[in-house]
Amino acid sequence: MRKLIHPASSVSGVITLPGDKSISHRYALIASIAEGATHILNYSTGADCHSTLGCVRALGIEVEGSGTEFVIHGRGLDGLRQAAGDLDAGNSGSTIRMLSGILAAQPFASRLFGDESLSRRPMRRIMQPLAQMGASIRAREDKFPPLEIAGGALRPIDYVLPVPSAQVKTCVLLAGLYAAGRTTVTEPVRSRDHTEIALREFGADLTVERRKISLAGHPRLTARELAVPADLSSAAFFIVAALLVPGSELTIRGVGLNPTRSALLDFLVGMGANIRIPELESHNGELVGDIVVRHSALRGGTIDGALAAALIDEIPVLAVLGAATEQGLIVKDASELRIKETDRIGTVVENLRRAGIEAEELPDGMAIAGRQKFHAAEFDSHGDHRIAMAFAVGALAGDAASVIEGAEAASVSFPEFWDTLSSCLA
Ligand code: S3P
Repeated sequence: MRKLIHPASSVSGVITLPGDKSISHRYALIASIAEGATHILNYSTGADCHSTLGCVRALGIEVEGSGTEFVIHGRGLDGLRQAAGDLDAGNSGSTIRMLSGILAAQPFASRLFGDESLSRRPMRRIMQPLAQMGASIRAREDKFPPLEIAGGALRPIDYVLPVPSAQVKTCVLLAGLYAAGRTTVTEPVRSRDHTEIALREFGADLTVERRKISLAGHPRLTARELAVPADLSSAAFFIVAALLVPGSELTIRGVGLNPTRSALLDFLVGMGANIRIPELESHNGELVGDIVVRHSALRGGTIDGALAAALIDEIPVLAVLGAATEQGLIVKDASELRIKETDRIGTVVENLRRAGIEAEELPDGMAIAGRQKFHAAEFDSHGDHRIAMAFAVGALAGDAASVIEGAEAASVSFPEFWDTLSSCLA
């Protein structure tokens, strides 16, 4: 699908966005192994979170509902049944990596596969800790999906994560629910902690001491009523759009502002962005608030170290913004970008160059000079949702209409993106 994007004269109004992708996956997975009916409101409409629902249904869990509201009838830690066929994780790294932790502990075998992009993403990072717990997993070339998980009894481990990855952390913690004793995960930098918050909400015995998370096996998990906040990583596209286009003032309602996710806002405010959060509330242990953002001239900056891990999903759209700042943007220590839905260092730099922007590709990031004009062009998402949306945002500041090729990719996390974007353009 090709989308034509015209330059905008402002990005304004009040918008609501789909539920957080990371939180939706976790609620669906944990609800499936909790006892009773968990009611989830504002579940993500993205295809990725529907891959998770498809998998838990295939594992014998009844899921009622449609749109954004679902009831998941969990049958306890031991209530899953062997799927009749292979489990399809679609484009979703979160689904395959997190669900593997649960499947490794089942008394039956499972086979998980995904689309072409997912079939090229590394799985050793979950295979290694699960093998230490006693799991038996086979993969294509010993590292790529499909995964064949034998399933069986697991033992607890004390695992030091070699990569900063919330998906891997979650995989080990979910497997730890089935191990007799305490499973401990230590992270190199603090990653998003939605799993820890959700597990506690469902009744798990979990403690967190700085970067060390410890969880008792065989807890009793109980069904909950849960509301998913709007996705800050989806909000990022609109925040950047409003910052970029002169005359903009946008309010985004009910966004998840968990401190392990909100480094984006601190980084933007540090560069001079006019962003306000009038009020903060807590829902199911997650912070939530409206975001009010106004067009702002920005200084530019550097994303490296722990900040690179914290902003990993937002870097494509921040790169687009970087070219419009005073001093530009440097991204380092972000080699994880190369193993996302696409090699996002390559796909971002390629599309920036199409817009006539000078950008240097680094092994672990990119360097983009400031004060550069975004020229209209034909952009290619390469099937990556965040690339499609990031360059649609850039096109709003273009000098003529641009085309986004592969625009349908946005549906992976945000099917309403194009309609929501048109609703706030003037
Ligand atoms: C996610 C963790 C991150 C992120 C992904 C969602 C999660 O991946 O990029 O979009 O929900 O845990 P990694 O765990 O690979 O860093």
